[in-house]
Amino acid sequence: QEDQFKKVISHAKEYGYIFQSSEIYDGLSAVYDYAQNGVELKRNIRDYWWKAMVQMHENIVGIDAAILMHPTTWKASGHVDAFNDPLIDNKDSKKRYRADVLVEDFREKINEKINKDITKAKKRFGEAFNEEEFRSTNPNVLRRQKQIDEITEELTRVQEENDLEGFKNLIVDLGIACPVSGSKNWTDVKQFNLMFGTQLGASADSSTQVYLRPETAQGIFVNFLNVQKTGRMKIPFGIAQTGKAFRNEIVARQFIFRMREFEQMEMQFFVKPGTQKEWYEKWKETRMKWHLSLGMGEENYRFHNHDKLAHYADAAADIEFKFPFGFKELEGIHSRTDFDLKAHEEHSGKKLQYFDHEDNTSYVPYVVETSIGLDRMFLAVFSNSLKEEELEDGSTRTVLSLPPVLAPTKVAVLPLVKKDGLPAIAETIVEGLKWDFSVVYDEKDAVGRRYRRQDAAGTPLCITVDHDTIEDQTVTVRYRDTMEQKRVKIEDLHALIKQETDV
Ligand code: GAP
Repeated sequence: QEDQFKKVISHAKEYGYIFQSSEIYDGLSAVYDYAQNGVELKRNIRDYWWKAMVQMHENIVGIDAAILMHPTTWKASGHVDAFNDPLIDNKDSKKRYRADVLVEDFREKINEKINKDITKAKKRFGEAFNEEEFRSTNPNVLRRQKQIDEITEELTRVQEENDLEGFKNLIVDLGIACPVSGSKNWTDVKQFNLMFGTQLGASADSSTQVYLRPETAQGIFVNFLNVQKTGRMKIPFGIAQTGKAFRNEIVARQFIFRMREFEQMEMQFFVKPGTQKEWYEKWKETRMKWHLSLGMGEENYRFHNHDKLAHYADAAADIEFKFPFGFKELEGIHSRTDFDLKAHEEHSGKKLQYFDHEDNTSYVPYVVETSIGLDRMFLAVFSNSLKEEELEDGSTRTVLSLPPVLAPTKVAVLPLVKKDGLPAIAETIVEGLKWDFSVVYDEKDAVGRRYRRQDAAGTPLCITVDHDTIEDQTVTVRYRDTMEQKRVKIEDLHALIKQETDV
């Protein structure tokens, strides 16, 4: 698994998808740049989301709010007071620890053990094995599950009660935190706010402390009434937004899974109080369908329903994806009640109510939110697509089988040789296609090598121009995933590419 993840990271660099930020200065931790192919894949994912959420829903509109917002926004949202992580440093290992990440690691380790127990039992019992029964009766599994539950419960408690001493004990108890086993050399626990702050205004005494937004959602909440009125929106309706968010993550790891600067794609759906449960279920289903439509395997997704809820939520679930390092949160669907709008009413002194013409009532709507990290989605797509395949002749090939609709380049046009007028024909084909599709032209190296290069870069289709093309105006179309080839008339290329990549 670790190897696979390393391959993902190096492939992302080698094929122009992701570079470390300011690499010539040895990079900046948990900050990344999207390269020439990465920027296209990222844009395609964003467009795919936007189309599904905004274009396909008459009652959802988009906005693009500013990253900087009035500082009271973050007081109202709870981020100034509650967007904290308790931190502790170990003086021996000189490492910094964050409780929830440690608990996550712990949970993963124990789960691995449980899975090993299950695999063993499966082998022993064969057909007769029943996993559910085994999980609920096997004393080893039950003991391990109890460990997970207890630690998780303790984490929730120390977080909720802000019990810093309890947090320290938890870390020391976990043991895994401390490479110097039994080390007592801990610093005091510090509270660390995850928002990046900066100053607005030039002089020190007239400047105001502002923040880079840690989520895009608040830009939607504060604009709720503006959009509702100017767009004559009737409840239920949604406001969608994509854009950068910033969090000063303490333990930043796992490549673009947890970044300090990242992009979110969020949608806030405003509903009549009392109907939120129904909409919450609907959005869970709709969002899962969106993921499955990309064809990356149903078995790679699962819901994780939250038992412990944030103070603003009355229901919450994650869509988890099977990343190379295990199932992890990809998207959150939250029923946020009227918490945010009410808080903004209180802090701004302005009413944020909706007048319902149907029953002549005014109310603060409830909100169901869908929130997905664009970079995390990128990692899901990219890691799931990268494959090493063994071919019939015993050789291997690396293929990046991105869903065609998301692929940065849809088609590569290749003249078989660099002479006999073939490059000119290939270039004419490129000219004819490039208005509608992202196309590359490649004439370097033998055609087999060029195919492999496009396979590894994720291009779903190659078009080869050969000597027969001069005679009969047909070309070879080669499919990345199956390596099948077929002859197609040049005039039919446009329709074929549209059909294969515009899914
Ligand atoms: N408005 C709700 C909200 O922001 P969240 O669970 O904190 O909820 C939503 O974030 C999504 O944003 C996550 O499911 C994840 O995909 C993405 N995300 C959050 N923090 C991230 C980070 N540091 N790096 C990359 N993506 C992140």
